[in-house]
Amino acid sequence: MSKVFEMDHPLIQHKLSLIRDKNTGSKEFRELVKEISMLLAYEVTRDLPLEEIEIETPICKTKTKVLSGRKVGIVPILRAGLGMVDGFLNLLPAAKVGHIGLYRDPETLKPVEYYCKLPSDIDERDLIVVDPMLATGGSANAAISFIKERGAKSIRLVCLIGCPEGIKSVQETHPDVDIYIAAIDEKLNDHAYIVPGLGDAGDRLFGTK
Ligand code: PRP
Ligand code: URA
Repeated sequence: MSKVFEMDHPLIQHKLSLIRDKNTGSKEFRELVKEISMLLAYEVTRDLPLEEIEIETPICKTKTKVLSGRKVGIVPILRAGLGMVDGFLNLLPAAKVGHIGLYRDPETLKPVEYYCKLPSDIDERDLIVVDPMLATGGSANAAISFIKERGAKSIRLVCLIGCPEGIKSVQETHPDVDIYIAAIDEKLNDHAYIVPGLGDAGDRLFGTK
């Protein structure tokens, strides 16, 4: 069974409260999502491997550590996942970005795929799938299945807000994928929106309705 890491750093919780507020407009919403994503990126990369190298400071030679191991890929689920990319790239500037276009059919609530462009070497990268909302889990499950079919082996999922239903669904469908999440809300409503949540993440990011 995969692990779930709830990242309740005070700065993350404070900024989450601001994006949950219905009076927060798109500009501020986008800035906050980027800031929260940067804080999440810091936590999510805590276990990246290091190797020792020797360098010379202005004072003397010394041994020091740099990142080693596999390269990272960031995979936003369009549209709302796009809001998280810049925050991750700020801390991981060498990462490549793959895009998966999925939307949730409002009638069936099933994910419908419309776009996919991934780095050619995804089988050699540690992939971080990003999407602000984990509701039924349908979109995350489909995106993860999709990149696995194309060779991805190391995947973690990062979301801002989820609920027990979505977490359970991803854990059952992809037991090898750890989930990093800023808040686990109470439940889904009859339209499969997270309660209390923040509403429709894509619409709030991009000012659509
Ligand atoms: C939202 C969100 C997730 C999905 C979560 O996207 O960004 O991708 O819903 O719901 P699920 O866990 O029940 O699948 P949406 O389908 O609204 O598309 P958008 O990002 O293009 O607005
Ligand atoms: N998608 C969203 O954007 N918000 C939700 O609460 C559920 C799915």
